[in-house]
Amino acid sequence: MGDNVILVGFMGAGKSSVGRLLARRLGRCFVETDDMITAREGRSIPEIFAERGEAHFRALEEETVRLLALKSGDVIATGGGLPCRDGRPDRLRAIGTVVWLRGEFDAVYERAQRAGARPMLAGRKREEIEALYRAREPYYRQADVTVDTTGINPDQVVAKLVPLLRDRLSTLSPPEKPPTLSSLGRGWGEGK
Ligand code: S3P
Repeated sequence: MGDNVILVGFMGAGKSSVGRLLARRLGRCFVETDDMITAREGRSIPEIFAERGEAHFRALEEETVRLLALKSGDVIATGGGLPCRDGRPDRLRAIGTVVWLRGEFDAVYERAQRAGARPMLAGRKREEIEALYRAREPYYRQADVTVDTTGINPDQVVAKLVPLLRDRLSTLSPPEKPPTLSSLGRGWGEGK
């Protein structure tokens, strides 16, 4: 597999903020599937939904998953609906370590409302969005690693995540071992 880290989770889960920080922390490139789609299409996600409909957007996501297989060593933030198709979680796990940024529905809903233009939220009642969240949970749950983000900020999420990724990513060095007595040489003031 491509040694990528793939962040999944509902709208408002913090995939973009955590992904950007995580990539910086690991010295890797950061990629967002929504950006890959808007760059290819030359229009924004709300424009794609308005002009071509959700089904077209989902077809573009399918094409994007195929392109992700070419990536190596990147941190990838996915759109909230991208992993939620039968067979997708397996395909994503073949491309990298899949991380679910899990948050309580109330918290992610509030964040999703606050930031960004999200066509999936437009004109839908809170109960409908919660039903979508519940329907998607079984897909997110198939991630390799789950981090609970409730009540913590993106920096704290990254701090929780890095040790969990250490065993999985071949390019990450293990945590530094504490120095041994012999490596410290003789004690204070004993000179050369
Ligand atoms: C979607 C989530 C969005 C974007 C599109 C559809 C979804 O990404 O891909 O509007 O179906 O949940 P974010 O999860 O980054 O908001």
